[in-house]
Amino acid sequence: GKVRAPTHIISTISDDRGEEPCYAGVPMSSIIEKGYGVGDVISLLWFKRSLPRYCTQFIEICIMLCADHGPCVSGAHNTIVTARAGKDLVSSLVSGLLTIGPRFGGAIDDAARYFKDAHDRALTPYEFVEGMKKKGIRVAGIGHRIKNRDNKDKRVELLQKFARTHFPSVKYMEYAVQVETYTLTKANNLVLNVDGAIGSLFLDLLAGSGMFTKQEIDEIVEIGYLNGLFVLARSIGLIGHTFDQKRLKQPLYRHPWEDVLYTK
Ligand code: ACO
Ligand code: LMR
Repeated sequence: GKVRAPTHIISTISDDRGEEPCYAGVPMSSIIEKGYGVGDVISLLWFKRSLPRYCTQFIEICIMLCADHGPCVSGAHNTIVTARAGKDLVSSLVSGLLTIGPRFGGAIDDAARYFKDAHDRALTPYEFVEGMKKKGIRVAGIGHRIKNRDNKDKRVELLQKFARTHFPSVKYMEYAVQVETYTLTKANNLVLNVDGAIGSLFLDLLAGSGMFTKQEIDEIVEIGYLNGLFVLARSIGLIGHTFDQKRLKQPLYRHPWEDVLYTK
């Protein structure tokens, strides 16, 4: 019989060996003919299935809303400084991407993990937030540098509005809102931020779409797929900032001495 040499790589999401490339078994021609969008492509390549239209639309809204947030945020700042140091597109892009993490843009997975655990264990917002405080862990998805109770993040409101209209259930998001109501009694800037809104709403998408088993949802949350949404989205803006600096022929950036507190 045939002897099959063991392979060194296993891959399950795409295949380019046939006449045309396939994403999760769906041929490229069908992706184009059916008018699929980037949300559908993400569904196929990340989740290995076609998701209902409201889900792919939600994914696309996340991407559009998180594409950029001005030049002053950590990621854009790094990208701008790198581009002005004369570096190429990829270097400028990754320099910005490397700032995405627990404080900036990369709190989506932890927000989903903690909100899911607290919601499923039926913790009150008080028990959840105070329990986190005791452990010395900041609540992922809560807090913002410039947004506050009187200047809420429009992106969060837009995501909530879409989900309330299209999702069968928004129980995790409603839990996150209850947490926000409690944290706002502690400080004005402890609002539900865009990471927290995406994290909690993606739990609702996974649980409410009927497309994922409980085990699959746990795996997605455990592996941490969701920061990928911010990484992907913000790449659009960071690439834009790189082109902008090059177009403007901006010189090497040097931070002003006056803005540094030199001290012993
Ligand atoms: N949970 C609990 N307490 C908090 C939180 C939080 N998420 N955020 C701030 N606080 C409290 C703490 O008591 C903190 O004091 P500490 O430094 O002794 O812990 C106090 O508020 C002041 O915190 P600051 O560091 O001054 O707040 P800052 O404005 O710098 O923080 C930040 C903003 C980084 C977003 C913060 O709220 C945080 O870490 N949040 C959790 C991570 C997160 O969700 N990041 C995503 C933000 S949205 C985005 O990047 C697209
Ligand atoms: C962002 O999307 O970059 C922000 O929410 C972070 C910020 O500080 O504005």
